[in-house]
Amino acid sequence: TGKFTYDPGFLSTASCNSTITYIDGDKGELLYRGYPIEQLAVNCDYLETCYLLLYGELPNEAQKASFEDRVMHHTMVNEQMQFFLRGFRRDAHPMAVMTGLVGAMSAFYHDSTDINNPEHREIAAIRLIAKMPTLVAMAYKYTIGQPYIYPKNDLSYAGNFMRMMFATPCEDYKPNDVLVRAMDRIFTLHADHEQNASTSTVRLCGSSGTNPFAAIAAGVACLWGPAHGGANEACLNMLYDIQKQGGVARIGDFIGKVKDKNSGVKLMGFGHRVYKNYDPRAKLMRETCHEVLNELGLHDDPLFKLAMELEKIALEDEYFVARKLYPNVDFYSGIVQRAIGIPVPLFTAIFALARTVGWIAQLNEMIGDPEYKIGRPRQLFVGATARDVKPIAQR
Ligand code: CMC
Repeated sequence: TGKFTYDPGFLSTASCNSTITYIDGDKGELLYRGYPIEQLAVNCDYLETCYLLLYGELPNEAQKASFEDRVMHHTMVNEQMQFFLRGFRRDAHPMAVMTGLVGAMSAFYHDSTDINNPEHREIAAIRLIAKMPTLVAMAYKYTIGQPYIYPKNDLSYAGNFMRMMFATPCEDYKPNDVLVRAMDRIFTLHADHEQNASTSTVRLCGSSGTNPFAAIAAGVACLWGPAHGGANEACLNMLYDIQKQGGVARIGDFIGKVKDKNSGVKLMGFGHRVYKNYDPRAKLMRETCHEVLNELGLHDDPLFKLAMELEKIALEDEYFVARKLYPNVDFYSGIVQRAIGIPVPLFTAIFALARTVGWIAQLNEMIGDPEYKIGRPRQLFVGATARDVKPIAQR
C-alpha cells in the first residue's frame, strides 16, 4: 500500500486528456468542442452535433448532407435481430433488451470488429448512430405486441425515430414539428458529458481491444442505473408517487424524507458530481417542457406544476443550498418524454440512443491517443496477509 493514490469514486483523478466536452461545474457551463450547449441546442440539430463530437468541427452544408445520407442509409437492422429480440420476455425492461441488442450487433457486422482499425471504428460509429433509434423502437413495439415499423430514411433522424415508435401498419404517424424538435433537443442535450460512469465504462471496456459494439453495450449497461441515466425514469416515478399521495400539498413531507439520511430517499433529478450550480441542460429542458406542453394544450399538466413547485421548494431549502444540489437534465426530460407519449421505462433507452455518439467519440479519442494503454486501476489491499490452508476437517 502507500504506492497508489486512493480515490474512491474518482473524485479527483483525471483518467484521460480530452478535447471533446468541457464542463465548468461551478458556473454551470457545458461546451461540446468549445461550443456552448445553449447555442448548439438552438442553432444545430442532433446529427450536426454528432458530426461535431465525432470530427471536431461543425459540418458545412455539404458535409451535413453527406453525413445525414450516410447515417440514414444504415438505419435498418439485420432481420435476424428480430429473432434475437423474440427470445426476451415481453415484459423485460427496455434497458435489459438494449444491453442485449447492442451487444448482439457485434455478432452481425464483421467488417467493423477491429476497434484499433480507424475504418472499422468509422463504420461501426455510423451503424450505431443509425441503428440505435431502430433498436429502441423495436424494443418498444415488442413490449406492446405491435409489428415493427421499418425506418423511413427521407425523414429527419428524430422524425424517423418517432414514426418507428408511434406509427402502425394501419395508420401512419404524422410527426408534429414541435415534438420532433423536442425529441431532437433531448438527443442533443444527452449527446456527451465527458468522463461520466458510462463513458468511463466504454473507455475501459474498449481499452482491452474488444469489439466496438461490445464496448458500447457496456456503456448501455452502466447507464441503466438510477444514479446515472436511470434517473429520468426514477424521477418521473417519484413525481407520480408524490402526486398519488396528494400532490403539491405533500412536497413538504417528501422533502422531509429526503433530508432524513436513514430514509434512503433521494430527490431524483437533483444533484450532480460535477455541477454545483444549475445544470445548463436542465434549463434548456425546462424550456422545451413549456413548449411541448403548450403545443399539446397541457400547460396545466399537474405533474409539471408539481415538478416546478418541488424545484422551487428544494432550491430554497437549506439542505439543498448547503450541498449545492440543483436540478439536473433528468428532472424535466421525463415530463417532456411522457407528454410526447414515450412510456416511462423507455426513457433511459432514449438516453442511451443519444449518448451513443459521445461514447464513440470518446472511444475514438482514447484509441487515437499515443499514451493509450489498457485501463487497469490499482488497489490498496486491506485483506488478510499470507496464511496457510488448513485441511478441511480443521477449519
Ligand atoms: N437528494 C438528496 N440528497 C442528495 C442528492 C439527492 N438527489 N444528491 C446528493 N445528495 C446529498 C448526499 O446525500 C450528500 O450528502 P452528505 O454530504 O450529507 O452526505 C451530498 O448531497 C453530496 O452527494 P454525493 O452523493 O456525495 O454526490 P455524488 O457526486 O457522489 O453523487 C449523484 C452525484 C448524481 C449520484 C447524486 O446527486 C444523486 O444520486 N442524484 C440523484 C440521481 C440523479 O438525479 N442522477 C442523475 C445525474 S445527471 C444525469 C446522468 O449523469 O445520468
